[in-house]
Amino acid sequence: MTINNNYLNLKDSYLFSTIAKKVREYSSQNPNAKIIRMGIGDVTRPLVPAVISAMQNAVVDMSKAETFKGYGDEQGYGFLQTAVKGYYAKKGVPLELNEIFIGDGAKSDLGNILDIFGTENAVLIPDPVYPVYVDTNIMHGRKIVFMNGNLGNGFLPMPIELNKTKADIIYLCSPNNPTGAVYTKAQLAEWVSYAKKHNAVILFDSAYEAFVTDKTLPTSIFEIKGAADCAIEFCSLSKTAGFTGTRCGYTVVPNALKNGDISINKLWLRRQTTKFNGVSYVVQRGAEAVFSDEGLAQITKDIEYYLGNAKIIASTLDELGIAYTGGNNSPYIWLKIPNSNDSWAFFDMLLEKAQIVGTPGAGFGASGEGHFRFSAFGQRENVIEAMERLKQILK
Ligand code: MLT
Repeated sequence: MTINNNYLNLKDSYLFSTIAKKVREYSSQNPNAKIIRMGIGDVTRPLVPAVISAMQNAVVDMSKAETFKGYGDEQGYGFLQTAVKGYYAKKGVPLELNEIFIGDGAKSDLGNILDIFGTENAVLIPDPVYPVYVDTNIMHGRKIVFMNGNLGNGFLPMPIELNKTKADIIYLCSPNNPTGAVYTKAQLAEWVSYAKKHNAVILFDSAYEAFVTDKTLPTSIFEIKGAADCAIEFCSLSKTAGFTGTRCGYTVVPNALKNGDISINKLWLRRQTTKFNGVSYVVQRGAEAVFSDEGLAQITKDIEYYLGNAKIIASTLDELGIAYTGGNNSPYIWLKIPNSNDSWAFFDMLLEKAQIVGTPGAGFGASGEGHFRFSAFGQRENVIEAMERLKQILK
């Protein structure tokens, strides 16, 4: 046999695996240390009551012959697609049910979608960025062009910065992971116009859309006129409703999105029906409950809790005179490391001196160096304690 040599071009381990390994090592050498985890964006609030009760009812369904379910519907159950369709309708985005694909989270679909695009496509990826976009393209051997995010462009690169570089596949993540920056409608309209002009596709990651509190900001690329001709949207209930361990998300592939006469929606359906057998009935029932009035009211409280954590982090950084972005419409705070440009050294220092885990900016790409990310998904008392410790070591 031979192997896919592209894998040899990857870094040894995935960013969050590397961090987890470092923390495990530290913890085994310092068994009494009270480590506070603000690295990976993993939620800490439990599933909301509406979800729990829907899942309990679904378990009962599975226990009776009349209501038992085997393999589910190919693109996800109609009840969940209908709930997602209703959620988009509230944003003023009309969808057909067959445009909604239920999956096990944005990460999987963002990687898997690449199966249906040619390896010769030039891929445009903002830097710093969620490492999945880069790693999955390296696995396929695609050429990647990076667009630099920096303080100058507010970590929101725009098509004008491309000069003559042409891109076929464009990744946009808004609210952005890791920087927390959010594109305006006017900025997204420029990307849609670029994609249409160059026959490119935008892969829009909206995993953090539920954290947008500023009503003028878009929470879906499909709020932009013309986007259905040139974009695919990936979203997940991981951060919206605490599903990081439960696993459920959705991908919207518009019927209008074509390459010549070929429907991208049909190709994705072909790929999914061949390689994926769906998300469990019990989880899809729980996901449906997220979109009920009761569910939405309950998850909003959790989102407010996390945004409250973000405020605590932000005010500590203000007090320390440290520059940052994010935290307003996003659960991430992206800070400029004081007096250093080495984000892994800062990571080690925080772990050793304060037992705080964050994510080094360099892990999100070369442009992330000199920065550091805090996740606001922790428990309130831990966030408060972490910020006290931070003040002690940085004051
Ligand atoms: C992150 O910390 O960037 C995310 O939690 C990772 C993920 O969602 O896969």
